[in-house]
Amino acid sequence: MKCDISKESYLERFQEYLDFEKIVKSEYLVIGKVLAETIKTALGNVPRVRVLDVGCGDGRMASTLVTLFACTQMRLIFDFLDPVEEALTLYERNVPEAHRGARIRGDWVSYDLKQPYDAIIANNSLCGFDTRETEGLRRFETGLKAGGVTLITLPSVKSDWVTYARQLWPSVHGARFGKTVFEDLASRFDCLGINHEDRFVEVPVRIEKTGCDAALKAIFSMMMYVDREQIEAQWLSDYRWFKRGILWRQGFRMKFVYGITTVRRGV
Ligand SMILES: C[S@@+](CC[C@H](N)C(=O)[O-])C[C@H]1O[C@@H](n2cnc3c(N)ncnc32)[C@H](O)[C@@H]1O
Repeated sequence: MKCDISKESYLERFQEYLDFEKIVKSEYLVIGKVLAETIKTALGNVPRVRVLDVGCGDGRMASTLVTLFACTQMRLIFDFLDPVEEALTLYERNVPEAHRGARIRGDWVSYDLKQPYDAIIANNSLCGFDTRETEGLRRFETGLKAGGVTLITLPSVKSDWVTYARQLWPSVHGARFGKTVFEDLASRFDCLGINHEDRFVEVPVRIEKTGCDAALKAIFSMMMYVDREQIEAQWLSDYRWFKRGILWRQGFRMKFVYGITTVRRGV
């Protein structure tokens, strides 16, 4: 059986082979600093910043931003949107009440925006987004107040993950690699005439324990969105180069690059 979206916990899968918490913390800090600087520069010193957090997940990015703004005069208030109920509950646990606004269970594609925002963020939440959804893309601009700013982060084709996944996806899923990566989004914005500024950040991902099949399965399952027990033996043996390249070097560093695009609404 093939499955497109893994149900396994990331944390449980990786903690044996890499310091997951350390990697995620540094990733969020690197990206969070870019988001925070861009919001500060765009909005100046406004005391209350109304933010819509699209695909808010468990609030890790919102919490990072709260910390990064702590020593400023600006207070971020997040309306938080996610289709997954558990994510919203975790968000409420992780993001302090003083920084929470409306809880919205929903999907960005069908979401009927009630008010414009100072800032909209979508951090690593649009991998499953169909970029033909023109209205959803335009709303990243029209959903802003004058002078407002949208920031969207997605994995770039410069990442090892995208290179490997694109090659292996057809044999695992019987279909072409269908995730939305940063360059897909940027080129759709270009087609639609939505002005955007792009930048790229590399985040450090180091695999400490290599050279065993269990580690190979963990990494493979993450990259290919399958659960470990669904991995068929031939997928691994067919791709010895994947094994050689990724896992059989101690302390292997994976190149993980995110693109961050900024869309502004003119004053
Ligand atoms: C990797 S998590 C990122 C969470 C959060 N943005 C952060 O960085 O801390 C991706 C989240 O996007 C949500 N998501 C996926 N597709 C979405 C959509 N079309 N509209 C809204 N949320 C979506 C998922 O449910 C998941 O919680």
